[in-house]
Amino acid sequence: MSARDLLSWYDRCSRDLPWREDQDPYRVWISEIMLQQTRVETVIPYYRRFLERFPDVGALGKAPLDEVLSLWSGLGYYRRARQLHGAAKMVAQNGGDFPTTAAQLRELPGIGPYTAAAVASIAFGEVIPVIDGNVERVLARQLALGEDPRKISGRRKVIAGAAELLDNGRPGDSNQALMELGATVCTPRNPRCGECPLAGRCQALELDQVEMFPLPKTRKPAQRLRRRVALVLDGEKVLLFRRPQDSELLAGTWELPWVEADGKSARDSERELSLRYSGLWNLGPQVAEVRHSITFRSLRLEVHRAQISSQLTVADGPEAGWFAAEEILDLPTSSQVQKVLGAAGPGVAEQKNL
Ligand code: ADE
Repeated sequence: MSARDLLSWYDRCSRDLPWREDQDPYRVWISEIMLQQTRVETVIPYYRRFLERFPDVGALGKAPLDEVLSLWSGLGYYRRARQLHGAAKMVAQNGGDFPTTAAQLRELPGIGPYTAAAVASIAFGEVIPVIDGNVERVLARQLALGEDPRKISGRRKVIAGAAELLDNGRPGDSNQALMELGATVCTPRNPRCGECPLAGRCQALELDQVEMFPLPKTRKPAQRLRRRVALVLDGEKVLLFRRPQDSELLAGTWELPWVEADGKSARDSERELSLRYSGLWNLGPQVAEVRHSITFRSLRLEVHRAQISSQLTVADGPEAGWFAAEEILDLPTSSQVQKVLGAAGPGVAEQKNL
């Protein structure tokens, strides 16, 4: 089982795709740009129309950008089309000759490591692996890769594994074979391992855990935070503060006063509230607990009825204010505010006799 098995599978089973009729760099390049973020079946009719209208790099370089964009319309990611047009002008100015190595190809607009390796290997026979999402999955399974293939260390292993499967005489076909294998056999769900030319060396298959790979993206564990939230009421109105415009999160939104609670007593919290918002605070009993998650944070909010001494500090102003429920609906707030008011706001407080 080896590069040879992969190639002979490709020779037997590869799809008949319009850009595989020859190895013309212009055609290969157009197809690889269109295939980024777009499925093969969607690309085929666009590719045909595009090639009919712009049969070579000179024709594309001379065309008005609007026409290029209109033939691209429906493929999305229009930046690809703009860069394609820019690169075509550069190549046309250079007499129509494409750079022939991956390193040189990367100097053209819109050609990143993936496209450079694909064009260099398919059109010019450079022995360089191409790594797309399909290849990542095939290799993560072949190697039973115990880490995220998108991170540096995992990626290195994927590249080394893909390089081992390259046939030096036909690197472009080897690369296309791996991509094709991922797209048609080694699929994310229900892979058809019985048809796979690499099944004999697949470590995930040996473990009978093919669908376990690639391992899911590693996520930072959610940061758990406990906060005390002070609910200060004046009749129907609730005291809110505005976050500074330069806050990292939720800048300029209105929120209930709060402090971190981990390891702190209620008295500590009163002091911190004074420091942050000024005034003298008195935290009453906890009246609700609300859980809230934002991206990587998981918050446990302990809601306390509270009093603040005197009008002296929290006058209505740009930073603080008293608001009725309907007014709050029109303010920029995080959904935390509605959650807390839903659990313990003025109406609720009365019903529950809080
Ligand atoms: N996906 C993107 N480019 C491809 C190619 N040349 N062959 C198979 N699948 C692909």
